Amino acid sequence: MTAPIPLTITRLTKRYRLPSGGDIEAVSDVSFEVGAGECFGLLGPNGAGKTTVINCLSGLYPVTSGEVTLGGIDVHRDPKAARRLLGVCAQEDTLDSDFRVFDQLVRYATFFRIQVEEGRRRARALLERFGLNGRADDPVESLSGGMKRRLQVARALISAPKLLVLDEPTTGLDPEMRRVLWDILMEERAAGTAILLCTHYMDEAERLCDRVAIIARGRILDVDAPSRMIARHMGTQEVVDELRPGVVWRRAPNLEDVYLKLTGTHLRWERQEA
Ligand SMILES: Nc1ncnc2c1ncn2[C@@H]1O[C@H](COP(=O)(O)OP(=O)(O)O)[C@@H](O)[C@H]1O
Ligand SMILES: [Mg+2]
Repeated sequence: MTAPIPLTITRLTKRYRLPSGGDIEAVSDVSFEVGAGECFGLLGPNGAGKTTVINCLSGLYPVTSGEVTLGGIDVHRDPKAARRLLGVCAQEDTLDSDFRVFDQLVRYATFFRIQVEEGRRRARALLERFGLNGRADDPVESLSGGMKRRLQVARALISAPKLLVLDEPTTGLDPEMRRVLWDILMEERAAGTAILLCTHYMDEAERLCDRVAIIARGRILDVDAPSRMIARHMGTQEVVDELRPGVVWRRAPNLEDVYLKLTGTHLRWERQEA
């Protein structure tokens, strides 16, 4: 028997009811899957619907329609069993300021019914891996923003999840810390973890992701390996220099060019709907 696919999302639609009485469709008819050892990127600007997708797959939000399974388990039929396979690093800081760094991880492990000694062993290993060893006994509030971010990713890994979900994990990290995190994600992928990475950084998606979905206004516009997507949409780009007749520039197109072509808007500056 083949192992079940870590994540399948089938025709997911999510509408929010607004206090004013109307509703907003944040995610429309979204389908994709993430296989073991695959890093899948959800690439889109603020307001595209990335976080909504994550909230639906962790079973926190009821879906309007569609189906989500984790390791073959329907998230809404059996949320507890499904969530055991999942490690999530949310977009906002969700660390518990009542706990010191080490205890934060050990306590989180108990949510997954991991024995205390095993939890402590994993916590030590993760702090080492994330370069936070020296801060084990410090209060969370004493950490810098970048350290908190790393701790939050470490916490998502304490249960050795089949699917690791990261919502804009590198926002606010300096380039060195970004590299540290990228390396860890690639180690996880090599070990067979499925990764869903939400980001609006094109370079990050291009570098890390086996496949990316371009999402705008709640809809997936295209899914493919970054290089294939670029080749398919952009080919080899030639730009005529208007100031110097006869001069033609060749530049290497990237995912941002694809995004512009698909949506007519710049990835970073797409305006949110009112
Ligand atoms: N709890 C909520 N209630 C109402 N609207 C929401 C809620 N959460 C998100 N939205 C709206 O849904 C859309 C998608 O938001 P979100 O999923 O946060 O996008 P992203 O993570 O890509 O920035 C936006 O228009 C946002 O304003
Ligand atoms: Mg978001």
